[in-house]
Amino acid sequence: IDENTPTQTLDSRTVEAVGKYIKDGRAKRIVVMTGAGISTSAGIPDFRSPGTGLYANLQRLKLPYAEAVFTLDYFRNNPLPFYILAQELYPGQFRPTITHAFINLLNEKGILLKLFTQNIDCLEREAGVPDDKIIEAHGSFANQSCIDCKGSFPKDLMLKAINEKSVPHCLHKSPSGEPCDGLVKPNIVFFGEQLPGAFFDNRDLPSTADLIIVMGTSLSVAPFSQLPSFAHDGTPRVLINSEAVGGLGSRTDDVLMLGDCDGQVRKLAEACGWLEELEAMWAMT
Ligand code: APR
Repeated sequence: IDENTPTQTLDSRTVEAVGKYIKDGRAKRIVVMTGAGISTSAGIPDFRSPGTGLYANLQRLKLPYAEAVFTLDYFRNNPLPFYILAQELYPGQFRPTITHAFINLLNEKGILLKLFTQNIDCLEREAGVPDDKIIEAHGSFANQSCIDCKGSFPKDLMLKAINEKSVPHCLHKSPSGEPCDGLVKPNIVFFGEQLPGAFFDNRDLPSTADLIIVMGTSLSVAPFSQLPSFAHDGTPRVLINSEAVGGLGSRTDDVLMLGDCDGQVRKLAEACGWLEELEAMWAMT
């Protein structure tokens, strides 16, 4: 972004500067990082917003602490709360937002290098972002497997279990021929589990990007939260979020677009001259 534009204080010049940077073709390799905040307007609660966040609304599950519902050790002893929640979170019930459509527009323009998402709602995929451009850092509901033998589990039986809020068990046999009978869960990354290999294989991409866009995340969970810091100093980092997070704003080329992400995305699209195109694309999503 041109040196005489102050990027710390958000004003129209700053958004204009980012729009100009993109319009002038200086952003060819954009890395986008997203969290639950981009799906709240689709009707999916985020995790930590006071009052509305998922973790503030799990009393009915009688958990020892909120994150237990996504913690492997707790799940081993008490898998039912997760299956009760999984029915409410399961993809296919929600429509992508204009923010999801914006990520797809970047890809259509040939300037999306990679999307790292923490979300398990598959809405970026449903918005049209191709599979090879998405790193689902915290997994997704797309597949499911046994937490003991890691054997896969049929999708139709998982859907049945989730609909009936019943806990499915592994169908594989152990080497000795005994039924494994381990607990099965969707391949979403629980606390206590490793992130997918694809996350680590692609973790250096932010250092090769010419623009970073972080949207709708508190950046409170490592190692995902480290991604923005891998960008080189000269790479502009745009944060679109209701609050400043993750030390963004500490570098001269950071741009903080604080507020509702759908509204801020419209502002950025307008600065790029893409607002009509974005609205039309979203209308078809
Ligand atoms: N517009 C802009 N920002 C929003 C909006 C919105 N409509 N809604 C929420 N936000 C912001 C919140 O203020 C918060 O900063 O998005 C962020 C959401 O943060 P979290 O609820 O912590 O969600 P996320 O960052 O995705 O959580 C990370 O925690 O529980 C684990 O694995 C889970 O992937 C999840 C990880």
